[in-house]
Amino acid sequence: MEENKNKTGHGLIFLIGFMGSGKTTLGRKLASRLGYMFMDLDHIFEAQEGMTIAEYFAKYGEDAFRQKESELLKGQPYPEHAIISTGGGLPCFFDNMDWMNAHGKTIYIKLTPKTLADRLENEKDQRPLLRERHGEALVQFITEKLEEREIFYGKANIIANGLSLTAERVEEMLRY
Ligand code: S3P
Repeated sequence: MEENKNKTGHGLIFLIGFMGSGKTTLGRKLASRLGYMFMDLDHIFEAQEGMTIAEYFAKYGEDAFRQKESELLKGQPYPEHAIISTGGGLPCFFDNMDWMNAHGKTIYIKLTPKTLADRLENEKDQRPLLRERHGEALVQFITEKLEEREIFYGKANIIANGLSLTAERVEEMLRY
């Protein structure tokens, strides 16, 4: 996989960030702009396991999920160029963040807890870590989780302000 870095193009680009930061939406747009393959590790996980992540958590628990998620990240038959959207917790377990930095470029899509909470309020049922949390309790939970996770997210090659972030802007950032 190391050879990707020396060829033209960007090789593998991993999008990281909290749930609700828009990794999948942005990833699809960026992939179509650059003519790269788009891969969403959460979707690959669900297709492979034949159940949703919420169902997997309920059946096997978070530790088992993290183990499988890491194996999935490292075991993909990646093409030469791809945009890869990752689950919000993925960079924060095992050596996943270092692995991504060694095999491609990482982009952290950064947003404030308040913005994330507003975006997540209506779609959090799909996300096992957010269920049962509403309003201020949701903001509080995201604030604390984000503080822990930023230690890992902060190792990204590019840190992008996620507010009104466009694929065009990311493409520009990749040039420098
Ligand atoms: C998680 C984020 C989810 C999914 C799982 C756990 C997390 O992915 O991997 O529910 O720990 O932040 P998205 O960030 O794509 O929602």
